[in-house]
Amino acid sequence: MIVEKNIEDTRRIVTEWHRKGFSIGLVPTMGYFHDGHLELMKRAADTADKVVVSLFVNPTQFGPSEDLAVYPKDFDGDCAKAREVGADLLFCPEPDMIYAPKHCTEVTVGDLTEGLCGADRPGHFTGVATIVSKLFNIVRPNHAFFGEKDFQQLTVIRQLVADLNFTVSIVGVPIVREPDGLAMSSRNAYLSRSEREAALVLFQALSRIKQEVLDSDGMRDSQDLLVKARELMETKPPCRVDYLEIVDEKDLSPVSTVKGKCRVLGAIRVNDRIRLIDNLALYMA
Ligand code: PAJ
Repeated sequence: MIVEKNIEDTRRIVTEWHRKGFSIGLVPTMGYFHDGHLELMKRAADTADKVVVSLFVNPTQFGPSEDLAVYPKDFDGDCAKAREVGADLLFCPEPDMIYAPKHCTEVTVGDLTEGLCGADRPGHFTGVATIVSKLFNIVRPNHAFFGEKDFQQLTVIRQLVADLNFTVSIVGVPIVREPDGLAMSSRNAYLSRSEREAALVLFQALSRIKQEVLDSDGMRDSQDLLVKARELMETKPPCRVDYLEIVDEKDLSPVSTVKGKCRVLGAIRVNDRIRLIDNLALYMA
């Protein structure tokens, strides 16, 4: 696996791969790899001839009071893991190479970014859309892989690709979970033992909603389902609900009645410090 910090050298490598007719799969990440990240890389290795993993803790997607300075890092461990699952190139630029001092262009995706995580994290998705656009232009991948764990992010990227005519195909990868159901996340590393136990309530609340929908034969009222799920979440006081919504999977618009391809999305804060997100499809895949 080649480890490359430099944009121009990365361009040279991918240009040569394109010239030879290889297809390229890109997996954008912020590092501290867990099995969720590795699943994306494995899917990329199954799909494309060459796998590029980007590792860049993107400062522009963090708010001023967020965890940029303490975001977990393990560069050597990440290199070993990416190599093991078949990555060909790890692109790990420095922030000042990606954002030159006079950088002043941003990519903003409209409506989709206003609710859910966007409501609580202003500017977050502009940071994400900008860095992902830059990565697409540097690597020029045929396929790019994103986790359903960040379902709003995945939807925003699909919109970005359609609106700006990028030629990359976007592949959404199902959520990888711990054995008890907690969605894997680099931010789980911040949780103490008791916080880890309490945080499971998010997955439990989402699962309860899914079960009620699958058990009923008719259409279900969203508010009714959400109220009961919130009650369950209030039993774990270190966890506070940021949002819990049932939406249409296509455009993330809230639905009053669950029918067709709906998804429940939730975010909690644990002890006001750690923000975790999760979601479940409310239909049999
Ligand atoms: P990061 O949080 O490092 O996640 C990188 C990719 O891994 C994202 O597509 C995310 O959805 C996916 N992922 C994380 N946990 C997962 C899990 N448990 N199961 C499946 N996939 C999972 O998301 C970002 O970085 C950044 O916003 C980025 C897209 C790299 C732009 O900076």
